[in-house]
Amino acid sequence: MTLAELEAEAKRCIRCKLASTRTQVVFGEGNPKARLMFIGEGPGKEEDLSGRPFVGRAGQLLTRIIEQGMKLRREDVYIANVVKCRPTVDGLGVRDRPPEPDEVAACSFYLKKQIELIAPEVIVTLGNPATRFLLNTNEGIMKLRGKWHSYNGIPVMPTYHPSFLLRHGGETGNTPHKREVWNDIKLVMQKLGLPV
Ligand code: URA
Ligand code: URA
Repeated sequence: MTLAELEAEAKRCIRCKLASTRTQVVFGEGNPKARLMFIGEGPGKEEDLSGRPFVGRAGQLLTRIIEQGMKLRREDVYIANVVKCRPTVDGLGVRDRPPEPDEVAACSFYLKKQIELIAPEVIVTLGNPATRFLLNTNEGIMKLRGKWHSYNGIPVMPTYHPSFLLRHGGETGNTPHKREVWNDIKLVMQKLGLPV
């Protein structure tokens, strides 16, 4: 199966209840041969409307980390989420919520296959749902971030979700959590042999 075939299958997926409330499936995007893959939680409002991952406010911060921080182009990496459809409270499309275990389980087929097909050298998980799913743990991001872990032999660096950074300190300023993310990102750059 190719990535394009997997995407076509995801676009008509009805494996979980999120299928009935989504506008668009947000499969993921980027270089199908990326050395680096970012995995977030799930689409928000802007992503659900556009069909693209990380295009809202958190996405703009992630894009700055990739382009201004790492000096890579967004299209050189691959960006995906644990769930491909937007989870909202009561399915009403107003307030986002984290994906529920049955939704993560139903969608896991797509993410696992994506990772297998892209075969990145390094994975960065953003926040708790992605980190817990990939590392198969209930441990929290505070404890797991900043250290190397592994998924099927691929090095995994968990770090804070950009939404968390926005909630704790806003877009600007050198907050402690931003410094922690930058520390984690530098470890990733070193692992990939990028100039730090
Ligand atoms: N937050 C996520 O986790 N993923 C997105 O695609 C957008 C916001
Ligand atoms: N570059 C920075 O300066 N800070 C970050 O958090 C990420 C990239």
